[in-house]
Amino acid sequence: MSVTLQINGEAASVDAALHDTLLSVLREQLQLHAAKRGCNQGVCGACTVNIDGWPARACLSLAHGCEGAQVRTLEGLNHTPRVRALQRAFTEAGAFQCGFCTPGMLVAAEALLSREPAPDEAAVRRALSGNLCRCTGYVTIVQAVRAAAAALRAGSAS
Ligand code: FES
Ligand code: FES
Repeated sequence: MSVTLQINGEAASVDAALHDTLLSVLREQLQLHAAKRGCNQGVCGACTVNIDGWPARACLSLAHGCEGAQVRTLEGLNHTPRVRALQRAFTEAGAFQCGFCTPGMLVAAEALLSREPAPDEAAVRRALSGNLCRCTGYVTIVQAVRAAAAALRAGSAS
């Protein structure tokens, strides 16, 4: 059954069953692999994408349910100043090891910074509370998000 989705600002028509998730369409039909399939049941946040400005779990979102919504994956956010600042800060802080959680973290953090340019530690932890990381212990991730926010405020991120 055909459905037209708005993915990263472009219309994409795909053939999807009513039970197909956004994650499966992104990864298997559109070859957008930044959103990861971790738990595939809404727990880990590795599949996080942005839907209409908010972080959402692609593994819990039905593709047909996303018709008419603006879906952004990390591929579509990569060039934005916020994500570039976050990527730089993650690298400088050593905020990843295996990197499996990182795309979802970046999408969730970008959504936070789009609303809150100066989040305190608690706000960052709250915003990322749905994103699990098995490697880092989160401290460097929180530091990186706050460092990116500071760089953006200072205008030193580009
Ligand atoms: S893969 Fe979607 S929350 Fe884990
Ligand atoms: S860096 Fe490995 S799960 Fe987060």
